[in-house]
Amino acid sequence: MLGPPIHFQLGVLLTMSKHGSTHDNAIRPFPRDFLWGTATASYQIEGAASVDGRQPSIWDTYSHTPGAVWNDDNGDVACDHYHRAQEDLELLGGLGVGAYRFSVAWPRVQPDGRGPANAKGLDFYRRLVDGLRERAIEPTLTLYHWDLPQAIEDRGGWCLRDTAERFAEYVNLVARALGSDVERWITLNEPWCSAWQGYGSGLHAPGIRDIGKAVAANHHLLLAHGLSVPVLREAVPSAKLGITLNLGDHRPGSSHELDVAAARRADGNLNRLFLDPIFHGRYPEDMVEHYRDARPGLSVVREGDLELISTPLDFLGVNYYFPSTVVDQSRAREARLAGFYVAPVEQFPDLRVRSLETPGRDKTSMDWEIEASGLTALLVRVRDDYTNLPIYITENGAAFDDYVDPNGRVRDLNRIAYLQEHISAVHDAIDAGVNVQGYFVWSLLDNFEWSFGYSRRFGIVWVDFPTGARLPKESYRWYRDTIASNAVEYAASLNSLTPAP
Ligand code: FCB
Repeated sequence: MLGPPIHFQLGVLLTMSKHGSTHDNAIRPFPRDFLWGTATASYQIEGAASVDGRQPSIWDTYSHTPGAVWNDDNGDVACDHYHRAQEDLELLGGLGVGAYRFSVAWPRVQPDGRGPANAKGLDFYRRLVDGLRERAIEPTLTLYHWDLPQAIEDRGGWCLRDTAERFAEYVNLVARALGSDVERWITLNEPWCSAWQGYGSGLHAPGIRDIGKAVAANHHLLLAHGLSVPVLREAVPSAKLGITLNLGDHRPGSSHELDVAAARRADGNLNRLFLDPIFHGRYPEDMVEHYRDARPGLSVVREGDLELISTPLDFLGVNYYFPSTVVDQSRAREARLAGFYVAPVEQFPDLRVRSLETPGRDKTSMDWEIEASGLTALLVRVRDDYTNLPIYITENGAAFDDYVDPNGRVRDLNRIAYLQEHISAVHDAIDAGVNVQGYFVWSLLDNFEWSFGYSRRFGIVWVDFPTGARLPKESYRWYRDTIASNAVEYAASLNSLTPAP
């Protein structure tokens, strides 16, 4: 039982607000019906890659391509959640979450990406949903978390309009099978990653590097979302519908006009290419101009598409992990001279933007900077520029170099500090009047972290991959206590946390 000492250690620091001043109101209660949850995704945890009729997805193909993924890891077994779902349900029950976000694997339901449903695939999710309901945990179902059936990619994948229509057909099968037992439906997870990492930088499956295709994929993913909303409304009239976007708070590295313009381009690509069509029914002019010569690019847009894409929703899902400071490519040297570290890998292949790291700032083992105020700023901006719909933080969390100590414990105090700072930042947003109604920790389990394989642990539960054994980390207990008290303490700084004797 390590709960009390952790709170004690943080308690010593809790009178310090994150600005370093003392705060007399250190415990911050959340609204009574605030929804606490945790999240996973099918390919990252399920394993059982060829069980009960499942056929390969683009991630099976990609991870089996030598050199594509760290250590040549793949999701064949992953956390073996497919066979251990019962145990994972117990972990969720013990955590006391009000909701669990998971994704359905399209290649389990429609192994070839078309035709009738594979009953065995749907049965797995039916059992999962029933298990959640028995524990009064609201299922929050993501329909697409990147595992496109390989058969669809073979025909052109997201570069093809037909894929959006196939998606709506698949959505109909899942919606009719699980119906009103699923509280919340999320059409897509992070379509930016699918389009831009899948078809732009090639860092994700299917590993294509073609800007024109990335732009077309961007549109077809949004169209898939738009086409599936009326399908879901008809199949499950009570359903609450949303989409999950990975949004960023882009700051220019200096006030130089080139850097300000670079930050605007990064914002246009990551945020506005999605938020503008969904909430304003149009693509942002500067991005249309930027991709004017890309082929097929936005030439794939047809009349009526944007009306579909902007069909009203019930909520917006926001994933947030790190802030972003950028400069124009031509100014990378100046940035270096000013003391910044310029990241070697560019997340925006065609934007002439370089990302900076601020020296001395804490980072996770993904090399992602930790800056919770970016989350507050982002949420306020989404409210001001786009929508007052309920917002759920559908992912937030951190990878650290955890280990099981000789006493059999994983004392991940750095993850606790990260979660505390970010939950506190969500509280700041609520105080600022943003309609945030829930928060989901990424992730319940250590899992297959895409191109990083099993080398990055995001779980609040440790997974011993050779045996599949689960071990709740200290953060699991901390999160359980946070949920039970429905409150968070003022954030302590990560650097000031030291393990108790
Ligand atoms: C997000 C993904 C999720 C996980 C986290 C760390 O981009 O949606 O599957 O990999 O990052």
